[in-house]
Amino acid sequence: MKDLGFPFPEGFWFGTSLAAHQAEGGNTNSWTRWEDQPLRIKNNEKSGLACDHWNRYHEDFERLSWLNANTHRFSVEWSRLQPVEGSWNEEAAHHYRKMIQDLKTRGIRPVLCLFHFTLPLWIDDQGGFENSETIGHFVEFAKRCQQAFGDLVLDWLTLNEPVVYAVVGYSAGMTPPGVKDHARAMRVSVNLLRAHGQAYHAIKNLNPKSFIGWAQHLRVFTPKRKFSPLDIWGARVADEVMNWSWYKTIQTGKIDINIPSVFRAKEESPECLGAMDFLGLNYYTRDIISVNLFSKQKFFLSVPEKSVKTDLNWEIYPEGLGKILKEIKSHRLSQYPVLLCENGLADQDDSKRSKFIYDHLKKFLEVSDKLGLKPMGYLHWSLMDNFEWVEGFDPRFGLFEVNYKTQERIPRKSAHYFREMGRLKSLIPPPEDDS
Ligand code: FCB
Repeated sequence: MKDLGFPFPEGFWFGTSLAAHQAEGGNTNSWTRWEDQPLRIKNNEKSGLACDHWNRYHEDFERLSWLNANTHRFSVEWSRLQPVEGSWNEEAAHHYRKMIQDLKTRGIRPVLCLFHFTLPLWIDDQGGFENSETIGHFVEFAKRCQQAFGDLVLDWLTLNEPVVYAVVGYSAGMTPPGVKDHARAMRVSVNLLRAHGQAYHAIKNLNPKSFIGWAQHLRVFTPKRKFSPLDIWGARVADEVMNWSWYKTIQTGKIDINIPSVFRAKEESPECLGAMDFLGLNYYTRDIISVNLFSKQKFFLSVPEKSVKTDLNWEIYPEGLGKILKEIKSHRLSQYPVLLCENGLADQDDSKRSKFIYDHLKKFLEVSDKLGLKPMGYLHWSLMDNFEWVEGFDPRFGLFEVNYKTQERIPRKSAHYFREMGRLKSLIPPPEDDS
């Protein structure tokens, strides 16, 4: 690997992403409650010990150093820090401080996420984010986290993929709480949006230097029948609701979420006006969308037959990232630095991962450069294999393979490639034999 490639922009954040529940092990929250029910998770698996990252974080962070990563995004588990209403678990907070300090000692920047899909049971019992009182609890939690970690952490993600959380849990009913009702999903999305806006200001008031965003899952929606007005309409509605409605609220201070004949929220939200310092983007794939207005489900998603796919049958579609970046520009969001804070694939035999990283990172840097966007960093999902929600432990997203029997971690070939890019601080093509 002599090619010095395409140098990363000055100060580029290069590293990985991980979430508490998927890696730590030993949690008790809304997800473990879900896992305890039969047929919710593939093979009836439970997150259980997961990667035992709670106990093994030091050796895992050693792996980040080995990868030449300078940034790591992870989440704190709300249910550990506030296991019952009004409480604060000092021991858990101390543990997270040790984790953050471990990263900092290595010169690795921590990006801390406050909500990655899991709720403490007491919040779940009160109706989770469907209950608007959860907004206040979340803001209180954000404040406490700032007070506990804010001397060590400047960079925050309030929420991970809030719209996905709302839609998959409350429209598709595939994740907790398993509801199938578009209108309820949109109510959850609105409450999350308000929670983000208020948490943003709570953190900012405690330290104006904090740099705050959320991780938005941005996805391309392509109409299945190219000339079907219905499918074209469906793709447009999905794009608007899933991708851009939140940013419009940040730009205007007004919520306007509209699924015609299903749900409309039109309300003032002054707390959201300007509540974003950078644009956190998770990018994986696209959906082909078709619409049947006579069915309850209305929107149907599929994958193009002829495409190259991951082990989870997700289309590998780096072009989509280019499209999203163009949309960022056309939605007048180009003043925000863009942090690609999740991008990755399930690829057990590691035959596609290096090329996937190369193609996406190249798209990110080239298109941003062309459009005058500010690419801030690339965080790969994920450092190591972990508990992939309803898919259980089958999908292998890691640069490191995890043997769940022994908790051994083994670097995949793509980890060596990633490491070399970290060393050179440049985008370089993967080695030719890497397939
Ligand atoms: C994202 C989630 C993350 C992980 C990846 C594969 O949507 O944020 O937790 O499951 O997908």
